[in-house]
Amino acid sequence: MQVARLRRLRQRVNLRDWISQTRLDPKDVILPYFVTEGRNAKKEIKSMPGVYHFSIDSLLKDISGAKEIRSILLFGIPETKDKQGSPAYRDDGIVQKAVKAIKTEFRKLIVITDVCLCGYTTHGHCGIIRKSKVKSQKSKIIDNDETLKVLANIALSHAEAGVDFVAPSAMMDGQVRAIREMLDKNGFDDTGIMAYSAKYASSFYGPFREALDSRPQFGDRKSYQMDYRNSNEALREIKQDIDEGADIVMVKPALAYLDIIYRAKQKFAVPIAAYNVSGEYSMIKKLAGGDKAREKELALEVLASIKRAGADLIISYFGKEVLRWLA
Ligand code: PBG
Repeated sequence: MQVARLRRLRQRVNLRDWISQTRLDPKDVILPYFVTEGRNAKKEIKSMPGVYHFSIDSLLKDISGAKEIRSILLFGIPETKDKQGSPAYRDDGIVQKAVKAIKTEFRKLIVITDVCLCGYTTHGHCGIIRKSKVKSQKSKIIDNDETLKVLANIALSHAEAGVDFVAPSAMMDGQVRAIREMLDKNGFDDTGIMAYSAKYASSFYGPFREALDSRPQFGDRKSYQMDYRNSNEALREIKQDIDEGADIVMVKPALAYLDIIYRAKQKFAVPIAAYNVSGEYSMIKKLAGGDKAREKELALEVLASIKRAGADLIISYFGKEVLRWLA
């Protein structure tokens, strides 16, 4: 006699649904949005079919068309860049204006902003550059502590605009503390921090960098983003961010880092977000080759794997479609 007939519970769809362990909920999905200057603009990003650059007015329209939408993650495309990334913390910067407009129209929407320099600097790095102090070296380095001051200013300008959470993604040591202190000092103790804690130096960011025109002009990001051969280090990064005041921590990318999500979930009691990044999105698009039904199956399988690993929140470029699929 067969001891256990595991197929018994797989026979029909009603049984499979009944005992299913993982459930993707519309509330779990965070929609990334790219916002640009201009009016009435909606321009598809070449490297990310189905994802757009929106002007603020078009963005508002798009949000109102997405039922069940709970939260968005906002990236700004500034008109000008400089060495210090100063367009990132102007009061009338693109993100600041967008946040004001969005929060005025959609009060209950949870708005999160990416806090980084790479989209705002001419050199495309996530920090301030200076010459190495080592005399024998002529190399340029990313100055951690100078960058912290700028990140804190960016976060403050977003908080003043009314954002709910800032999401520092520069991978500078101490960035969560620097931002927390700046926000608290200015009375924004209710503004939260969703920290990109375990952010790996990944080739899966390729399409995004095209979207933001944020490729580093020299070198790479490996001196600040994590080495993909390591996992213990991710737990140290996450622990440090929690100690510095992060409300939510993030693992990024998601699909190639499910073990990190799993370990983080087992170890820490904070909400875990996972970022299913641009290259992971493009992979599915390519594999589906324009077949919408296949795209849906592939995307739902990938998102379920991220949930199963332990993510509470998932940032997904399929976001709007996911909301439709789950409706
Ligand atoms: C900014 C940032 C990046 C992504 C999110 N925030 C790019 C990078 O670090 O190069 C990548 C997102 C994606 O690939 O979908 N630092």
